[in-house]
Amino acid sequence: MGTPSVLFVCLGNICRSPTAEGVFKHKAMQNGFDVKVDSAGTAGYHDGHAPDKRSQQVASHKGYDLSRLKCRKVTEADFETFDHIIAMDKANVRDLKRKCPENLQHKISLFLSYANSEFEEVPDPYYGGGKAFELVIDLIEDAADGLLFKLSQSLKAG
Ligand code: 4NP
Repeated sequence: MGTPSVLFVCLGNICRSPTAEGVFKHKAMQNGFDVKVDSAGTAGYHDGHAPDKRSQQVASHKGYDLSRLKCRKVTEADFETFDHIIAMDKANVRDLKRKCPENLQHKISLFLSYANSEFEEVPDPYYGGGKAFELVIDLIEDAADGLLFKLSQSLKAG
């Protein structure tokens, strides 16, 4: 089996999924785990923009640098390219499933299904305050650990 690949998806690709990309890349590197990681949005409102300043700030307090990431929209090719397409909320799952061919829909999952959490979804922080962004990164760190564990187990199993 080759290097696994993961695409994190939210609505805007400026708050939650770039945070997931930055956190997961960092944790994978720390653990010496080789994985291709990217993120995208189901909507294209902010194409080409860096992540939201509030997301960058809470991430940087925890040692993650999001400043070089660039927003993009999910493409048809993503469903072929990536092994795992991981959504932040159920609306993202619905939007992805509308675009994804039936035979590739098994690649789509909810990020918090890998976490040990009372939350099922990473809530959209865009119209929230600082606390909303802190909750997002806490949930993402938890799920990133779970996903890393799951991927390393499946690599071992071959
Ligand atoms: P994200 O948050 O999906 O976590 O990137 C949002 C960003 C922008 C908008 C909504 C959610 N927006 O409506 O522009």
